Amino acid sequence: MTEQDFIPKTYSKKVERGCYTWSSPSNIALVKYWGKREHQIPENPSISFTLDACRTTTTLSFSKKDSHKYFSFEVLLDGKPKNDFEPKIETFFKRIEAYLPFLKDYHFKIETSNTFPHSSGIASSASGMSALALCLISLEKQLVMDVMSSAVETTQIESYFNQKASFLARLGSGSACRSIEGDLVVWGNHKDIDGSSDLFGIKYPFEVHNNFKNYHDTILLVDKGEKQVSSTVGHNLMHNHPFAEERFKQANQNLSKLTHVFKVGNLKAFTEIVESEALTLHAMMMTSLPYFILMKPNTLEIINKIWNFRNETGLNICFTLDAGANVHVLYPESEAKKALEFIQNELVAYCQNGHYICDRIGFGAKQL
Ligand code: DP6
Repeated sequence: MTEQDFIPKTYSKKVERGCYTWSSPSNIALVKYWGKREHQIPENPSISFTLDACRTTTTLSFSKKDSHKYFSFEVLLDGKPKNDFEPKIETFFKRIEAYLPFLKDYHFKIETSNTFPHSSGIASSASGMSALALCLISLEKQLVMDVMSSAVETTQIESYFNQKASFLARLGSGSACRSIEGDLVVWGNHKDIDGSSDLFGIKYPFEVHNNFKNYHDTILLVDKGEKQVSSTVGHNLMHNHPFAEERFKQANQNLSKLTHVFKVGNLKAFTEIVESEALTLHAMMMTSLPYFILMKPNTLEIINKIWNFRNETGLNICFTLDAGANVHVLYPESEAKKALEFIQNELVAYCQNGHYICDRIGFGAKQL
């Protein structure tokens, strides 16, 4: 697939007005995307667990307008106008206009809400951009589709539109392209993963051991403030970074190693790769110019507690981090009871106002 394949030829239908609602999850990367080229093309492939509880629900209402010269939309968060989201959406619309040429024909009302608090330090861009992309794709489907004829055709069409939704979501925010499907999604070209692409995320195509089914992610909210570094600024720090080339190589290797780990169910090796990825992401930020430390003292307290607990018990509890101070604590279903007890007794004390979110691996976006 190339970019050209996502440019529609003609729209056979006329649609005056309507509305769609999608609920789309967040995701947590195991091999991290950090470093991008123009048009949100990743410097290295990444893989993520799709989450379940952390989601954005977006309703897109649309009605035909007379002028076709400009984008027209309003954005509401939790029912209230959210003007500061507008520039991001305007940029998104500009980036995707070539692929959705109907965008200037409608006025859009975008009503969005998150299951997690807006000021929780959890980025809503992955769930938010994927939910919006899916609403727009639903409209495009309506513009092109006649009554579907066969089951095979329906499956092919669904798979094309899922790919296109991921492709569009990527242009909104890179990691958003990993939030359309579940439970494991690969984004970025990787030599051993057939069908992998820099343009969109795909469902992980290989065997996954039962150890990784229903994996848990308890998100410890260490710092609920606004992001210290925007992701775009962060990714740009990888241009001319002294360790960039090695890092991109390492991400490819870690993804190769993970494919074996997933197959045989090796939880120890999983821990090693996932924690190393998280610390490498932060090491890249600490060694860029300008440099940043995004972990907080409590992030380190939690990491040390996890390491001690793991040494004492032999359980397979591990952590990963995003570009911030919050800690994602990952553990298998079979150890969930003990892990949660440990989290509640020993880790929650390090969270801001004791706040944490119990999440687990999920299966992608849903139309409501
Ligand atoms: C550290 O997807 O937020 O979470 O493409 O600029 O929107 P943009 O960046 P974004 O970057 C996410 C980076 C990360 C790692 C990851 O999710 O892979």
